[in-house]
Amino acid sequence: MKAKIKPGKLLINNEWCEAQSGKRFEVTNPATEEVLATVAEGDAPDVDRAVTAARRAFEEGPWKKMSARDRGRILYRFAGLLDKNRDELAELETLNNGKPIRETTQADLPLTIDAFEYYAGLADKIHGDTLPVNGNYFNYTLREPAGVVGQIIPWNFPLLMAAWKLGPALATGCTVVLKPAEQTPLTALRLGELLLEAGLPPGVVNIVPGFGPTAGAAVARHMDIDKVAFTGSTDVGKLIMKMAAESNLKRVSLELGGKAPNIIFADCDIDAAVNGAMQGIFFNQGEVCCAGSRLFIEEKVKEEFLSKLKTRAEQKLVGDPLDPRTEMGAQASAEQFHKILGYIKKGKDEGARLLTGGEAAAERGYFIKPTVFDGVTDEMAIAREEIFGPVVSALSFKNIDELTRRANNTIYGLSAGVWTRDIGKAHRMAKEIKAGTIWINCYNCFDAASPFGGFKQSGFGRELGKYALELYTQVKSVWVAMD
Ligand code: NAI
Ligand code: MG
Repeated sequence: MKAKIKPGKLLINNEWCEAQSGKRFEVTNPATEEVLATVAEGDAPDVDRAVTAARRAFEEGPWKKMSARDRGRILYRFAGLLDKNRDELAELETLNNGKPIRETTQADLPLTIDAFEYYAGLADKIHGDTLPVNGNYFNYTLREPAGVVGQIIPWNFPLLMAAWKLGPALATGCTVVLKPAEQTPLTALRLGELLLEAGLPPGVVNIVPGFGPTAGAAVARHMDIDKVAFTGSTDVGKLIMKMAAESNLKRVSLELGGKAPNIIFADCDIDAAVNGAMQGIFFNQGEVCCAGSRLFIEEKVKEEFLSKLKTRAEQKLVGDPLDPRTEMGAQASAEQFHKILGYIKKGKDEGARLLTGGEAAAERGYFIKPTVFDGVTDEMAIAREEIFGPVVSALSFKNIDELTRRANNTIYGLSAGVWTRDIGKAHRMAKEIKAGTIWINCYNCFDAASPFGGFKQSGFGRELGKYALELYTQVKSVWVAMD
């Protein structure tokens, strides 16, 4: 074991402390249902202390005076420390979240490190413009940091979501109060230690673990937070927006749920598409906002496709997340486990045909078998609602117009997959599907340079790439009379 697990505290102004209430909560290993550690339970007074520290760091601290290049240097140093400790971080993530170690080492860690390196490099390339205005004036814009930002993140990719949030916020010169999910605070706290080691000045990143309605709401409602960035459920996203509106009208960005269509045309490379469908729904136990959970298959290849998918799903190795052979681990929490089993029951009750899976995969731990439903109709709950688990609903279609309408017939719009050898059809779908990311003959591709975010009730704002700078900066227009 490389991961050293210890009781977690709050990080405020570069000091580790207990919650003002003295309360602690338990964090569980979802693969064994055993308690891993206890963590200090932050609430409104702790968020308030964290905001005070972040405000001071933003207005007065060395962070404010530091050049953008030096901020970038700290981020690089931090990325280097993540790299040095990657095995330990991967193990800690796997223990706390239940995802297989092969995925934490091959996806979560490399993507996390990439995101920090990308924003390290971007820090000194953020600038305004000079604009040709009428009259004898010189007009230019400044791109200034948004200020103190609150960041509330979920439990499905604890490290990666922290990276997507912290990277651009720090590159732009903001200061942060980060609230990790109550299920998975351990790697965020380890990040805190490494941020200190990298030389981040006091108050720049404050980490306050705690529950949503208490610590999370305190962030969304705080009068001295300038911007809140949230990733999680659509229901809570709406609450965040409401709290922001009712407090100080802080800026909001939301990355919420999804019910992505993964579209299989008859002219595609069927084996590649079966791989893509597997990736699309079983990666990270299906606890992925952009999971390809609605599988639209062109009627004439449906039988062949589903028979291959069934075989592959049944071969998938579900088990001990720490075993490097394991392909699918445990769902992240008891709550999520029961929610998914509830949807499986609902699917059966609504008359969908269970092709494979459909039940728990172990006596202990929150494991669920890869599950495929056939005979699903667009109206069924399993075709409309986000399940956030390894459950895919197969639907069939006859022609492209009908397909486009049905694929877009959802409150969500985060992503979509398209499988075809016809380049014209592929681009037509890319244009017509209302979603923030379209994967053509691939699925779940990510890169720090490429934006990610939703249409419709999947949220708004784009994370990653240069697009994320919009979230963490504001533009100031400066006029200078020339005569
Ligand atoms: P959630 O939206 O309740 O939790 C996400 C984060 O928001 C956590 O840090 C939580 O503490 C915080 N939060 C919860 N209630 C809050 C409140 N009233 N004010 C401020 N912050 C609050 O998601 P939950 O309950 O863990 O999962 C429920 C469903 O949400 C999942 O089954 C899935 O469908 C969806 N979800 C989507 C995610 C995504 O990546 N888009 C991530 C996590 C969940
Ligand atoms: Mg919730």
